Amino acid sequence: MTQSIGILTSGGDTPGLNAAIRGVGKACLSHYGMHIIGFRDGFRGLMENRTMVLDGDTLSGILTKGGTILGTSRDKPHKMPMNGKVLDMTETIVANYHANQLDCLVCLGGGGTMKNALRLQQAGLNIVSLPKTIDNDVALTETTFGFDTALGIATDAIDRLHSTAHSHHRIIVVEIMGHRAGWLALGAGIAGGADVILIPEIPYQVEAVADAIKARKRKGKPFSIVAVAEGALTQEEFAEQQAVTARKKDKKAKEVVAEPELVYAERTLRLAHQLELLTGLESRPTILGHLQRGGTPSAADRLLATRLGTAAADLIQAKQYGFMVAARGESSTPVALEDVAGQVKTVPPDHPWVASARSVGTSFGD
Ligand code: F6P
Repeated sequence: MTQSIGILTSGGDTPGLNAAIRGVGKACLSHYGMHIIGFRDGFRGLMENRTMVLDGDTLSGILTKGGTILGTSRDKPHKMPMNGKVLDMTETIVANYHANQLDCLVCLGGGGTMKNALRLQQAGLNIVSLPKTIDNDVALTETTFGFDTALGIATDAIDRLHSTAHSHHRIIVVEIMGHRAGWLALGAGIAGGADVILIPEIPYQVEAVADAIKARKRKGKPFSIVAVAEGALTQEEFAEQQAVTARKKDKKAKEVVAEPELVYAERTLRLAHQLELLTGLESRPTILGHLQRGGTPSAADRLLATRLGTAAADLIQAKQYGFMVAARGESSTPVALEDVAGQVKTVPPDHPWVASARSVGTSFGD
């Protein structure tokens, strides 16, 4: 009996998604003779049963294309925005899965998608997932497609910012994506030779950052590049966030705990201004934003996405469901969805990359 496969992309888009769709699709179609359909715009398209034929033609020429030919969304099966309400549409999704006579649903996404994929596996669907995000914060996989391309974009940006900072004797504070984990800011900061790297996992003090910049100035380097992750926090903000988290967990707490207003770009603008006041050097912010999510995937991401995609097809052929295909060295390994869902791979403060950056004199503001 020919197996019928559904595939969707969910969460933030990344370069490499189409390479992964192609990897899964071509292996399922040509190698294993399966039938495959795409669902539009993540779990929303699955709920609305909006499909796209995936065949030799639609899978051709997409290896190098950015974004996702299927479209994506951040909508969740159990919390689906519906005409101003938020409804649990899991039953509709399960019904559509069976109406399309699917044997398996392949979900390409990040941490949030893994949680939603597990919920659908527990609702009786056969799920295989692939780890995708520029943040590289999906647990139990060495890396995710999208990360290498974003690393290149952010590093190129830092290179360009170096020349203008040097010319104007300025501080440039460049905000890099990563609201939960600092892998992208850490990697690009090292590759771009940033003088300061601020990541969520190492809360910082503005004064310590200013001291590092002033020390450079005294050595005849009156310019600095500060690479800051979206989710980087001062030690004060970190303590406040910890307190909020504790209060939210404290069942006895009566008051509705308001999340601190953590608007990334505002914090970056404020940091740039504070550093100007503390150092006497002009300071300018640069927010890289969605530039890091755009354009053609790097060769490394194309290779990673293709090999994880074909590994997913192998799992499907073997009827091994309930797994994420995790990158492991030059190969991959299936990891149970329940072990991945809800986990975030953050940067250990004693990670070798952090030690290496410190060894070349990079400040982490701590
Ligand atoms: O999860 C990937 C990511 O790019 C994060 O780095 C970033 O904080 C977030 O998505 C932005 O989300 P959106 O594209 O929905 O604005």
